[in-house]
Amino acid sequence: FLVSKGNHRHFMEKEIHEQPEVISHTLANYLDFSKGRIRPGSAPVDFAKIDRIAASACGTAYYAGLVGKYWFERIARLPVDIDVASEFRYREMPLSKDSLALFVSQSGETADTLASLRYCKQQGLTIGTIVNVRESTMARESHTVFPTLAGPEVGVASTKAFTCQLSVLASLAVAAGKMRGTINEDEERQLVRELSEIPRYANQALRLEPQIEAISRDLSQVKHVLYLGRGTSYPLALEGALKLKEISYIHAEGYAAGELKHGPIALIDESMPVIVIAPYDHWFEKTVSNMQEVAARGGKIILITDEKGAAASTLNTMHTIVLPDTPEIIAPIIYALPIQMLAYYTAVFMGTDVDQPRNLAKSVTVE
Ligand code: G6P
Repeated sequence: FLVSKGNHRHFMEKEIHEQPEVISHTLANYLDFSKGRIRPGSAPVDFAKIDRIAASACGTAYYAGLVGKYWFERIARLPVDIDVASEFRYREMPLSKDSLALFVSQSGETADTLASLRYCKQQGLTIGTIVNVRESTMARESHTVFPTLAGPEVGVASTKAFTCQLSVLASLAVAAGKMRGTINEDEERQLVRELSEIPRYANQALRLEPQIEAISRDLSQVKHVLYLGRGTSYPLALEGALKLKEISYIHAEGYAAGELKHGPIALIDESMPVIVIAPYDHWFEKTVSNMQEVAARGGKIILITDEKGAAASTLNTMHTIVLPDTPEIIAPIIYALPIQMLAYYTAVFMGTDVDQPRNLAKSVTVE
């Protein structure tokens, strides 16, 4: 069937704006908001019996999985190995039959992810897939499907599928924590309540659009951009860089903030903006101290933080994007929105074909 852009200039813009609604649909599949509980049967895997998760995916879905690793390990004390599917499938990694093989894919057709899924199935692992297209090959071949209810995503650069994948991963980490006894009922209720607030915070994040559009005008003038983040903001830094290069063709790199001194600091000068993703969480002080090193070398900092972070930061920034203070678990989902909008508006200023960037395909069905 035909999906229309409605009043939006591009599908990507439309899909960015749909996020509060589709995240809400997706969460409702896993969470019982009124009871503050994980919906019984929504995570039909016995996480108490699983020794580890072997995860793989490609592109943006891989970055979602990388955020998921932090959640599963912290909330459920469940170790996660994650790799890009093109490496995983040939790595001959020792796998245990007690592991859950977890795949993340919007289309459910990406060749490398599908090959990794088939490899794990052959090794006798339980196969779980977080997937947006219910009729896809991966959905059919999995033992358990964890649906994202993002609706059809047309823009080649993934946006709403990503935040829905994150919403599912967070819900599953809470479900796993409950089954493994690493969180109690009160903690479950608290986390479910925090997750239920994602759509409201996402709406607030969308209100930053005019400011982000103005910042993007500056970004469209530069040749290189560095994204930095720590903890769950690290995969967001990778995703921010990927989004920007995919659609604006500006060279961008994402780095773990702590790795700055091991290489990228050599690149810092007045001409390369450094976008720092730093909610006021338990990594904040560390990230800010890395930023002092950037500032000391004349680097131009664009800080994406929250109200507490903006108040605590002593940094001299070129721009500061201030999101509302959010519970820590949902920050990666909310911070995805400004980085998507930055990439989108920068590409619009560059005049590129936002929905159909050169050389890229929505779904890569060849190796
Ligand atoms: C392509 C798309 C990306 C997507 C990746 C994985 O590279 O351009 O947006 O993240 O494939 O696709 P999948 O359908 O498996 O999530």
